[in-house]
Amino acid sequence: MITIVSGKGSPGATTTLAALAAGWPAPVLLADCDPAGGDLATGWLGQWIVDGAIRSDIGVLSHATATRHATSGDPGTLAEHVQAAPPARHVGLVAGLNTPGQHAAVGSPGWTRLTVALAAFETAQGFPADALVDVGRYGPLTPWPLLLAADLVLVAVRPTQRHVLAARSMLTELGERIAPDRLGLAVCASTSAATREVRAALGREIAIEMPTDARGAAVFSDGLDAGALPRRSPLLRSARRAARRLHGTYHTYTPAELRAPAPPTLASLIGGGSR
Ligand SMILES: Nc1ncnc2c1ncn2[C@@H]1O[C@H](COP(=O)(O)OP(=O)(O)O)[C@@H](O)[C@H]1O
Ligand SMILES: [Mg+2]
Repeated sequence: MITIVSGKGSPGATTTLAALAAGWPAPVLLADCDPAGGDLATGWLGQWIVDGAIRSDIGVLSHATATRHATSGDPGTLAEHVQAAPPARHVGLVAGLNTPGQHAAVGSPGWTRLTVALAAFETAQGFPADALVDVGRYGPLTPWPLLLAADLVLVAVRPTQRHVLAARSMLTELGERIAPDRLGLAVCASTSAATREVRAALGREIAIEMPTDARGAAVFSDGLDAGALPRRSPLLRSARRAARRLHGTYHTYTPAELRAPAPPTLASLIGGGSR
């Protein structure tokens, strides 16, 4: 589970995470957990909401409502609240809240149940799926369970003084509860020279660097070109490289092994039927 959080001024957290999901080399859940209301379904996938191919009422809120009597997260409960992203079928969207007011209906227990379900999620073929989580702008409503359970928390930052200063105070607070090796930076709309400066100023490892690419970014933030993947764009190329590297960091198996047919089950070897 990788969770991204942003500071003031929209550095590009949502765009970066959506591009990372599109470039992910294996099945992946893209969970829109911004308590102020989600941007993924209405942004990147907006065309599909208009078409009715994606429903904005299936996702975080429907999961919280359906599991409200459960005491802890049950991994089996999430599948009905995940929708395939039409431009990238390996991406399972957990659509976000439609209005800021809806966060109260999820609440801390709802975020906790979602965290457990995301961590344990498996595809219909029984393979583990990774989860990329957007918690929006850091603040009093930040859903902490999704930060505390993450293998990696990314702070999104642009290489400008204003963003770097905002990130610095956020890193101090996050660092009180998250170990340094699980806290990294996603530098958005950057160059390698600018990224080096951000790294020096914040004293943190850079987990992701995204180039400045307004056109590629507009696909993921605003659904330009009906959300069709900008395959040759600098943004998606960088996202693919970062996704492969991150996937390799957290898994001992390769994406190709994941796609290999599952080994025969005992039931299939002895003739299937129920006994
Ligand atoms: N790498 C990038 N290059 C150019 N523009 C970008 C890049 N990443 C994001 N943007 C733009 O920045 C704006 C804010 O992005 P968004 O992802 O919504 O920010 P956040 O989620 O941090 O609030 C959008 O208009 C988006 O297209
Ligand atoms: Mg956002």
